Amino acid sequence: MAKLTIDGGAIEVADGTSLFDACRLARGEALPHFCYHPDLSIAGVCRLCQVEVEGMPKLTIACNTTVRDGMVVHTRSEKVRKASQQILEMHLINHPVDCPICDQAGECGLQNQYMAYGLYDSQVAESDKVNKAKAQVIGPHVILDKERCVLCSRCVRFCNEVTKTGEMGIFNRGDRAEIGTAPGRELDNAYSVNTVDICPVGALTSRDFRFQKRVWMLKSADGVCAGCATGCNVRVDHEAGRVYRLKPRRNAQVNGSWMCDEGRLTYKDVHADDRLVEPSWRGQAVTWADAKARLAEVAVGGFALVVGSAHQSLEELGLLKLVAPGAVFSGGLAGSDMGVGDDLLRSADRTPNRRGLQLAGLPEHDAAALAVLVRAAKGAILVHGGDPAAAPEVAAALAGRQDVVYVGTHRRATAQAATLALPGATWAEKAGIFVNRQGRAQAFAQAVARPGQAREDWRVLAELLPATAAAPASLKALREAVRAQLGLGIDLDRLPADGALTGGEA
Ligand code: SF4
Ligand code: SF4
Ligand code: FES
Repeated sequence: MAKLTIDGGAIEVADGTSLFDACRLARGEALPHFCYHPDLSIAGVCRLCQVEVEGMPKLTIACNTTVRDGMVVHTRSEKVRKASQQILEMHLINHPVDCPICDQAGECGLQNQYMAYGLYDSQVAESDKVNKAKAQVIGPHVILDKERCVLCSRCVRFCNEVTKTGEMGIFNRGDRAEIGTAPGRELDNAYSVNTVDICPVGALTSRDFRFQKRVWMLKSADGVCAGCATGCNVRVDHEAGRVYRLKPRRNAQVNGSWMCDEGRLTYKDVHADDRLVEPSWRGQAVTWADAKARLAEVAVGGFALVVGSAHQSLEELGLLKLVAPGAVFSGGLAGSDMGVGDDLLRSADRTPNRRGLQLAGLPEHDAAALAVLVRAAKGAILVHGGDPAAAPEVAAALAGRQDVVYVGTHRRATAQAATLALPGATWAEKAGIFVNRQGRAQAFAQAVARPGQAREDWRVLAELLPATAAAPASLKALREAVRAQLGLGIDLDRLPADGALTGGEA
């Protein structure tokens, strides 16, 4: 361990800790920085993180310095403040300062540092600034404004070290130095928008989010990406009932600081034109009161077959077992929703909760086997989530039945095949838990309101509980019922930090 004094306070950190991290601990906030990133190599190029170390003749950058026992460090001295201001002034010499039309405004490192350390009058006339290319499309998802770049090299290091695709580079010298893609290359890898996240300024912006919303208007909810079994931790940025973007939330054990481009766009399905927004009976919209009456008609003898889906939350899957204790259970179509995985984050399994399905004891079936179960069902069928009727064999087996209830989010094949279709909520419109491919239970929060008459799925399913079962009054009560049902040894309402589940079958 090393004992240091930082800004007059004593602190002890492990040997080998960077001075940058020690200062963050001591100050309760990071030093000013552009180039440092916890999941990239140290570049030490922006010079913003300079601190004063007693006994050293000059200021030193903290990100590239390792702590030593007995170090006495000053991060807020006049000398440091002056140096930070000068470095900032250098970064701003050729910057266009076009904040009013920049998507980064409001979450820009340059703006923030200027307010903290700058507040000087520029001595550079606009006409003396070096102009560079603006609004260049450099890939399917990213736009580059070369004038705004502070040459921190984060995007270059990301493409070299994380995706190992090497599209980005810094070209030329001096005030002609500029960021760009390698000749003949596009920024076109499966994780390209992470460069937008880590660009500290508005040099790299997202084509999808560009000019959609000023960032200070957005609210955020902690989410878990439902795009595949990895379960990247995300921030769901939304406003007035609409999700505008997903951003990765750092979780060193799951996704580091990253997420894939495909997962980032999954929010579009939340606002798709084919959302199921009202109950429907034989294709005709009905009220919830009518739907309840119809439900009693359809499921008069209870459900003989219940088909779940790996897209639903753990709580909902657990509740299915309580809805129809004597039924035959299926987890839906085996092998559905498969894509191409990679060795970075993307899982070939494009569902968020296949482990949850296993934990709830819902075995998946291939289309032929599921069709056999449908034909054999001597009572009503409940399908929750997914779209098993997308498989022609299942669609043929469901055709003509008058006792199929579907609880789901989109008007796709299964909703159309159902006698009674009830609108549920997408992951953005409810709270729940997904169990990722590592077996980590991860909770996600509700971000936006449900559209039309859609309801939280567990409340819809609770309506289907047999008269003998007590309906849970809250999500907390549901979690306790599901914990008991699945024999789990953890409190689902207060997940352990590592999300490890104990008990159950997973
Ligand atoms: S484009 Fe952004 S991330 Fe890349 S070097 Fe410039 S400022 Fe840094
Ligand atoms: S890797 Fe999977 S979980 Fe992560 S962002 Fe992509 S689709 Fe979502
Ligand atoms: S953050 Fe240390 S030099 Fe850039």
